[in-house]
Parts: sequence; structure tokens; C-alpha cells
Amino acid sequence: MRILVIGSGGREHALLKGLANDPSAPELHVAPGSPAFAQLATVHPEYSQVDDPQRMLELAQSIAAELVVVGPEVPLVAGVADVLREAGILVFGPNQDAAQIEGSKKFAKDVMEAAGVATARAEQLTPGTADADIEAALDRFGPQFVVKDDGLAGGKGVVVTEDRAAARAHVDAVLGAGNPVLLESFLDGPEVSLFCLVDGETVVPLLPAQDHKRAFDNDEGPNTGGMGAYTPLPWLPKRGVERIVNEVCVPVAKEMVRRGTPYSGLLYAGLAWGKEGPSVVEFNCRFGDPETQAVLSLLESPLAEALHAVAAGELAQLPPLEWKDGYAVTVVLAAEGYPASPVKGAEISSPDLDNPEKILHAGTTVEEDGAVRANGGRVLNVLGHGSTLHEARGNAYVVLDEVAMDGGFYRYDIGLPAAQERIRV
Ligand code: GLY
Repeated sequence: MRILVIGSGGREHALLKGLANDPSAPELHVAPGSPAFAQLATVHPEYSQVDDPQRMLELAQSIAAELVVVGPEVPLVAGVADVLREAGILVFGPNQDAAQIEGSKKFAKDVMEAAGVATARAEQLTPGTADADIEAALDRFGPQFVVKDDGLAGGKGVVVTEDRAAARAHVDAVLGAGNPVLLESFLDGPEVSLFCLVDGETVVPLLPAQDHKRAFDNDEGPNTGGMGAYTPLPWLPKRGVERIVNEVCVPVAKEMVRRGTPYSGLLYAGLAWGKEGPSVVEFNCRFGDPETQAVLSLLESPLAEALHAVAAGELAQLPPLEWKDGYAVTVVLAAEGYPASPVKGAEISSPDLDNPEKILHAGTTVEEDGAVRANGGRVLNVLGHGSTLHEARGNAYVVLDEVAMDGGFYRYDIGLPAAQERIRV
């Protein structure tokens, strides 16, 4: 099978690694990819406009792709999957209307309300809302304010703060940029990322994971796209995944079918596990980053077969997924200044830079002389595995000890509260 993966980050490197390990040995292509992916796939850097459906169709047709796997949300919300499907190409990723589950937080709230899914109370403010109405809306929330850009913001459009002035400033910034704002009540409890393969009403969960969104240890500093993750979750109640599937993912999948916008692809449920159980913080229409890097590293079943089954509408016939025992941890090495203004160009060295079992490339470039340099905010995803979470963490940090990059930083506490049994529900 010839497979085209769209995207260029650590998530796409993890997808390529998983597909390359598939026993069917698919021929892999990636656009735009990164030079670091060249050992796994043919890289097509000239196809960098991943939100241009016609460009992506042109590439898929030129290489006679039999399956296209869309990594990021931007091409999905732009309708890339629709155009590929109309041309008769199998696609892993939802059509534009279904991708609104991530593209519009208001749409997601409407779906959840109709499906009876637990989530935070929310109010939308649109550009032009009067000053007094903004203040009155803020009065109805707090003491913890959750202020979201109601559009795609790469995971960085959310401010969670007890500082009302900071909340108001984010409201003004988002409205000023012409986007609606969502104010939400704060959901207490540890977060869970559960990724599900969804094909209409058929839902197959992957292992549950937890991301670490803040830039610095002890959940301090600004929100980021994610600084590290671990899987599975030792603290999750025994039937926790089953509850999330039955109370959240299946009702949402059914509601999408009922609306005439059936979902096909990866549904990412971001949840808080509170006193009553799971409550939805957000949905995403694609694999999460960096959780995917850890989750897929424990997948024993063939990845290409699973993604193909979803794309072909045959998920119900897929054998149950099998997983390796133990734990996986991924730690993000970020560039100086991330997330506000990452500095590009620092040289990176490590004995494991070419070993995707230990290091996945999230934002690097490789120069003609072979030097690997930072080319994004999140630069590397380092992986560790072990029979315990402690061991998996230790193995990830051993790899990081050998990585050198001027200004690069990472969190030292990825998975630590769980490993120390400090997370209780
Ligand atoms: N891990 C956060 C995200 O993928 O949006």
C-alpha cells in the first residue's frame, strides 16, 4: 500500500514510524515532512501548503496514494479530506463539516448538549460585544477563568487564570483579532486524553494518556501545545476508558451521524476526571501531540491496517487492538523562548538523533553538512519505555541527558505525579 502522511511534526514522525513498522511494509510519503523523516518516507517539502486541498490532491494523485493520513487539524478544517474523498482516495481524517468538532468550540458544545455529554458551562462572546456585557459575562465565571479563542489556535488559544484582568486582556485580544471567545467554567480534576478511532457509530479507543500543557515544572508558566505525556494512566479507575467511550465518544459519534456529518478518523477527547467522572474539556479532530508519540509506541497491532479500516468504513471488522505491556513517556525538548517566540537555528547533538525508537523530530531541519538545527518551538520528542512509569521516565531522561542544544529546555516532571501516586480520583 502507498500511504501519504500530511504534516511535519513529532506526531507525524510517530505516525510514519508506526506505519513503517507495519508488517505489510507500506511505501511511505510525507508532505511537507522534515528532512529528519527521510529514513522512513519520501519527503515532499515542495508541498508545504497543507491547507490547500487542490495541492494535496495533486500530490496524492501524482504518487497514486492509496491512503492519505492527515496529521494536523488545519488541513482537515480546510476541507482537504473532502476533496481527496471526492477524487476516490481513501482518507484517514474527518471531512470539513465533522472537523468543526475542533474548528468551532461552539459547534462542539452544541453537539455535546444534544448528545447529553458532561462538559463545562460556556458562554460565547462575539466581536463587538459591549464592554459592560463582557464584564457581566466575566461576573458569571471565576474564581478560575477559562478563556478560549473559538477557533484554531494550535492549542495556545486558552488562558486559564485566577487573575480577572488577565482573563479580560485575553478576551480583548481574541475579540480584537476578529474571533469569538468562549468563557467556560473551570473543570477540576486530572486531565485525560483519550484518542478513539471513529467510523460512523463504531468507536475503538486507544490507550489513555495525559499531556502536560504548561511550559515549566509543577504546571507553571504559559500554556503550550504540550510539553510531554505518558501512557497508560495508572490512576484511572478500572473501567475508566469504558466510561469515557460509553458516556462521551459513542454519544458524540451517534450525534454526528444523526446530524448528517458522520465522523471518520481520530476523535481526541480531552477530559477532566472530576468527582462525577469524565467531563469534556475539548475535542480535537486529529491525533494529539505529543501524546501520540507515546501511545503509538505501545501499539502492537499493525497501524496501517487500523487506519485503512477507518478510511474504508470497515472499522467494525478490525480485530481488537493489541498493546505492549508497560508504560511509555515522551518528553518535549523545546527551543529557547517557546511558546511566545521560539528561537530557531540552535544546533542539536545526540547519539540518538537518527533513532526513532528514542527520538522523534518535532521541529528540526537538517543542513547539507548534516547538522541538525532547531526549526520550531517544540524541537524533539524523547521517548522512554519501562515496565513501570518510574522506569519509563528514567529511560526518557537518560536519552535527554545526552542531548545538547543551546537554550533548549524541557520539563523534569513528566509523569512524575502519577509515578509518585500523587494523582487520586
Ligand atoms: N496535546 C494537545 C493537543 O494535541 O492539542
